[in-house]
Amino acid sequence: MANLLKKKVLVTGGAGFIGSHLCERLLGMGHEVLCVDNFFTGTRENIVGLLEHPYFEVLRHDVTFPLYVEVDEIYNLACPASPVHYQFDPVQTTKVCVHGAINMLGLARRTKAKILQASTSEVYGDPEEHPQRESYWGRVNPIGIRSCYDEGKRCAETLFFDYHRQHKLQIKVARIFNTYGPKMRPDDGRVVSNFIVQAIQGEPITIYGDGSQTRAFCYVDDLVDGLIKLMESPDTLTGPVNLGNPAEFTIKQLAEKVLSMTQSASAIEFRPLPGDDPRQRRPDITLAGEALRWHPEVSLEQGLRPTVAYFRSLLAQ
Ligand SMILES: NC(=O)c1ccc[n+]([C@@H]2O[C@H](COP(=O)([O-])OP(=O)(O)OC[C@H]3O[C@@H](n4cnc5c(N)ncnc54)[C@H](O)[C@@H]3O)[C@@H](O)[C@H]2O)c1
Repeated sequence: MANLLKKKVLVTGGAGFIGSHLCERLLGMGHEVLCVDNFFTGTRENIVGLLEHPYFEVLRHDVTFPLYVEVDEIYNLACPASPVHYQFDPVQTTKVCVHGAINMLGLARRTKAKILQASTSEVYGDPEEHPQRESYWGRVNPIGIRSCYDEGKRCAETLFFDYHRQHKLQIKVARIFNTYGPKMRPDDGRVVSNFIVQAIQGEPITIYGDGSQTRAFCYVDDLVDGLIKLMESPDTLTGPVNLGNPAEFTIKQLAEKVLSMTQSASAIEFRPLPGDDPRQRRPDITLAGEALRWHPEVSLEQGLRPTVAYFRSLLAQ
């Protein structure tokens, strides 16, 4: 029997870390998925298990150029997310955020599709408010080395809300906080993957600063649940909605957890803190709890286990 709830869903950045998990989940829900990616940081390995699926399609395309396809929903995830990658070509990063948003919003307008933006906690910058609520406007340096990403994502949010007000588009804006899990790249310089790779390889674990800065880590399955719940929420809910795990850890605590979980003898080494690195980061997820009935369910220990296993098998190849 035909699945009347089957939708044609476009996932930009679908071959990336979060995008590939999202594509898999959407296929599991019976939807047709079009994954659009230019493979800048995404890989075919991330989606190799989906390629034989009859309702999965991949298109190599750069979202800074217009796209003409017919879809019902768009998850706009295309954008390098780790500092090493978004600082590699900062002008392109701003273009991906801004031109990419304009192109996908234009597509949503033409096809009357609902569109979700993968925004980021980086829109809060180095916050004076802790934890950060959606009503907080942020404290962002507009001219620093992280600005291509932070300001690019802020401008994308502006575009989403202007398309909503001006063209009555159905929009959803998710502000994603640090997310981790299998399929992260071993070389992307993000703290969870860095520590695990260093621990497995028996290299020193590098902490930038004294390790007292805090972060909150969300397991990718929880995040994907939140994105889908937001997309399926009533039209009146545009967001922005924070999605992240509020359990806060110092970077030093994370290093110690990784060391004990990998049973590694690596030492911890301290290095100077890079520019604009926020001291504290923790989401206030009251809105997601009330409006989406969403709460992360996977603890850091639970999530680190499959992540460590993933990196072990990847590094053994
Ligand atoms: N992982 C996190 O902790 C986190 C936190 C906040 C926000 N986000 C956002 O979530 C989204 C996905 O992040 P991720 O962690 O999966 O990163 P990722 O780098 O693994 O995925 C990004 C994907 O976008 C693709 N891409 C980049 N530029 C493109 C372009 N011009 N055209 C088409 N595709 C392009 C990449 O090849 C990659 O597959 C990003 O928008 C990111 O800003 C992630």
